Amino acid sequence: MTYNDIRKAFLDYFESKGHKIVPSASLIPNDPTLLFTVAGMVPWKGILQGTEPAFATRVADVQKCIRAGGKHNDLEDVGFDGRHHTFFEMLGNWSFGDYFKEGAIEMSWELLTKVLGLDPERIVVTTHYSDDEAVKIWKKVAGKDAILLGDKDNWWSAGDTGPCGPCTEMHYDMGADLPGGLPGTPDEDGGRFVEIWNDVFMQFDRDANGNLTPLPKQNVDTGAGLERWAAVLQNKLDNYDTDLFTNLKHAVSDVTGVAETAENVASFKVITDHLRSVGFAIADGVIPSNTDRGYVIRRILRRAMRHGQILGHKGALLSKLYPALITEMGAAYPELAREEARVVEIIRNEENSFADMLQNGMKLLESELPKLNNNVLPGDVAFKLFDTYGFPLDLTQMILRDRNIDVDVAGFEKSMAEQKERSRANTKGTRILWESQTELVGTDDSAKYAPCEMSSKVLSILRAGEFVESANAGDEVEVALDKTTFYGTQGGQVGDSGELKKSGETVMNVSEAGRVDSVVIHKGTLTADLSVGDMVEPVINNAVRQQTARAHTATHLLQAALRSVLNEDVEQRGSKVSPDSVRFDFSFGRAMTAEEKQAVEDLINKWIAADMDVAHEEMTMDEAVAKGAMALFGEKYGDTVKVITAGDVSCELCGGTHIYHTGEIIKAKINKEKSISSGIRRITMSVGTLAE
Ligand code: ALA
Repeated sequence: MTYNDIRKAFLDYFESKGHKIVPSASLIPNDPTLLFTVAGMVPWKGILQGTEPAFATRVADVQKCIRAGGKHNDLEDVGFDGRHHTFFEMLGNWSFGDYFKEGAIEMSWELLTKVLGLDPERIVVTTHYSDDEAVKIWKKVAGKDAILLGDKDNWWSAGDTGPCGPCTEMHYDMGADLPGGLPGTPDEDGGRFVEIWNDVFMQFDRDANGNLTPLPKQNVDTGAGLERWAAVLQNKLDNYDTDLFTNLKHAVSDVTGVAETAENVASFKVITDHLRSVGFAIADGVIPSNTDRGYVIRRILRRAMRHGQILGHKGALLSKLYPALITEMGAAYPELAREEARVVEIIRNEENSFADMLQNGMKLLESELPKLNNNVLPGDVAFKLFDTYGFPLDLTQMILRDRNIDVDVAGFEKSMAEQKERSRANTKGTRILWESQTELVGTDDSAKYAPCEMSSKVLSILRAGEFVESANAGDEVEVALDKTTFYGTQGGQVGDSGELKKSGETVMNVSEAGRVDSVVIHKGTLTADLSVGDMVEPVINNAVRQQTARAHTATHLLQAALRSVLNEDVEQRGSKVSPDSVRFDFSFGRAMTAEEKQAVEDLINKWIAADMDVAHEEMTMDEAVAKGAMALFGEKYGDTVKVITAGDVSCELCGGTHIYHTGEIIKAKINKEKSISSGIRRITMSVGTLAE
């Protein structure tokens, strides 16, 4: 009997017993506790738990399953024996509150021995030690004495919580001449006895604390691996020698040009198995990625490519084999052909992007092997393979397993954690790294208001998340100096751009000066090598500084105009001052009318045209208060404060850079006014040449 014959025989039998035949559900379960559909019962979990109505009390199907990457995980074993698969088909019949133990055992026995004609003498059964009822039924139905086993073998659940119950398993004796002992004995995995069916009596629901509650109904969930049935019925000791796999292996030979031998058979098994899980999963909508089930599929695909490489094959492999999968399984699973174009494209892209990394990563790995101590690959090397060459840890382990080399997994995880910390620091900006530099003194930036020539010492260089003693031309770095003329981003005003020079030659293009507490951070790209201790001249871009300064003074005029046109309660809530552009948030309960916006813009332009003096003064906080200077809500100020006064219209505490005459602003133009949250409005405004 071929796979197609067996599926039909199974479904026909249960149909004759009043079961509704349904197609396989998706490999992507509707169940957040599982990565994949790991068993035939997964789609029926809700019915078993009584939270969904049963559409029939008797159901049978052949369910696509993947056991990889989760609680049920056979990935590591594929290729090393004839039994394990990541993808397999599970034949199953269900009773949702209909027949129970007796009916299930009777039908299993009849199908195996009467319909399929298996020798009753060669079938061995096991039950849970607590299940006296099942023991009695086996005696009555088959004259068999069940072997009693514990939870590990004869208790079944899909996940840590949910429906579960005792089960009874049927094993087939493949021949007395084979090694291996009875189920439950130490050499049960020897190969002689093969589990061919599992009837689970779903009686309980397990909660997160492990408590068992009886389910509303007593149910039956059975599962039989089609691949094992094919092996038994085709008299093969190895599932991979059954018709479907033999044909797929031929396809592997066609694509790679390599014949199967005793030495390379593991690669043939891995590739044919992985073709099925990758092909079916992507057909069902999984996309290879770096997380969750997408990452499991990516790992499986990369393992398959590695085995292609072992066979001497380069580049795309599974995408070329997919048509053979359709030939073998397309009749039973029409989605394979329906999704062909999409699946092949996804697999091909994934294979193309890994092909070179696989070659280069293997070179690195081979070059490391002679250096090993005690046959252990250091964790940082495994991490480099992962990070730079896309080798999942389990791929590296699989490659080294043949050579009896272990991977320092703890070291790998440490490198991984360090990398995460670095990228966390990068996404938060590098603030956290600079904050860790506790010995770094604040930058003397008193010259920022009146930039002059100066020679400054390089105190720290940060490159790619690490503080370094020196960095090279082309490196993106952040540099702290002992003193600077750069204004570091603060109080809503973006920092200066410019250059650092060494003896008149540019060593760094500074795209922006930031600030971490009192340290000014020059961010940009080196154009020559730079070391800690070097002396450099900070030179700001004056034109950009002027554009920022006029935008800042214009922001003060904007606030004054809003208070004049709207009302005195308008208060600044935030701002961003960039070269020639302003974003200003303020408290106000409704949208401004077009007339109000126009009036504000006109007033600012009137003040610009009046070319009022802008005074920059330092004074004590008390003096500033006496002068009536506006302070920012919630801002902290030091003992001496800077007060910026524009004519008689605006007087504000401000640490930013400003112009000296309002005429320098040239022009202001309000672009947008909108709500950003309840009671807060935002205006964007252009000034200078941007407003013209
Ligand atoms: N759900 C049971 C199993 O997977 C039948 O073995």
